Amino acid sequence: MSGIEILGTGSFVPDFIADNNKFSEFLDTSDEWITPRTGIKERRIMTDKPNYYMGVQAAKKAVEDANIDPKDIDLILLSTCSPDFFYPSMACLVQKAVGAENAAAIDVNSACTGFITAMDIAQKYLATGHYKTILIVATEKLSNHLDYTDRSMCILFGDAAGAAVVRKSDKPFYSMLGASGDEFEALYCKVNYDANCPFHGDDMPFYNNIFDTEAKQKYLQSDGHAVYKFAVNAMTKAVKNVAAQGGYDIGDIDLVVPHQANLRIIKKSTEMLGIDPEKVYTNIQRLGNVSSACIPVALDELNKQGRLHSGMKICFVGFGAGLTYGAIIMEI
Ligand code: COA
Repeated sequence: MSGIEILGTGSFVPDFIADNNKFSEFLDTSDEWITPRTGIKERRIMTDKPNYYMGVQAAKKAVEDANIDPKDIDLILLSTCSPDFFYPSMACLVQKAVGAENAAAIDVNSACTGFITAMDIAQKYLATGHYKTILIVATEKLSNHLDYTDRSMCILFGDAAGAAVVRKSDKPFYSMLGASGDEFEALYCKVNYDANCPFHGDDMPFYNNIFDTEAKQKYLQSDGHAVYKFAVNAMTKAVKNVAAQGGYDIGDIDLVVPHQANLRIIKKSTEMLGIDPEKVYTNIQRLGNVSSACIPVALDELNKQGRLHSGMKICFVGFGAGLTYGAIIMEI
């Protein structure tokens, strides 16, 4: 099975830092509550620009790092669950901004599992030879979805974007994606249409009419306990699956880059898998949960720190709304 060569990476985080103390100014919360339960000390918030702006910055940096002509990009896969538009796709906006005039442009939404999903799709396209150079971008502005009177959720998330330029390699690549749609109520953000069609009557009740408050109509909703439980199980299951596909022992993995939702989830699942904590990369302390951008931002940080070496076996693992989950083990 052919794999993926990472030619270049890029990321963007907004300047504005909201540390835990800033939340204490308008909510009944504290650093003493947030840090031990989540690991988060601060997160970045994009205060004055749309989501696609961040994606464009990350994409431009990845293209520069890859040292390629943007005209050589065949496909842009953009992961977001917080788009600025219903249409066009955000990938089209990135295409225009980076000058990738020969690229097809597709958005992917599997929430926080989005980068893993996009990598998986990219690997399949590259393996067939249909596309040779793919730009993957994950850009998220969850601050648009949050209810900042809901202390249990708004403290968890931040805004950021990450990107990678990839080509086919002959190195190993093993992946799995999964979904558990019957658990969608554990984590969702409903589209809040405000249409003025004169022919509309009352909207039909759907999903048992669970959206019975303004908050449920407009903002991210989550059952933190249900997500926590799902996440630990799904992450361990996904890593075991991809390790078995490749015939690897868990100890063979050199570096794990997990989705950064909660430090306790990361610690619990990697502990259950018997992964040395030294091999697990985290940046949740500085950025919070930036949804599908978590993994490519971490990848770019590792790249800039000179910690990616040829022959390493990297494992990406994550989960998100859907509920979805997935993992990759690839040799770089
Ligand atoms: N500050 C202070 N108190 C808070 C608080 C905050 N920011 N958020 C919740 N509390 C309170 C609750 O109201 C509750 O009070 P009560 O006992 O008086 O009702 C108490 O703290 C305990 O809440 P609980 O929900 O049991 O806390 P927890 O230890 O389970 O942690 C999460 C909650 C959300 C941090 C945790 O469940 C989690 O991280 N889940 C995963 C969520 C996630 O990552 N979603 C996105 C996935 S992509």
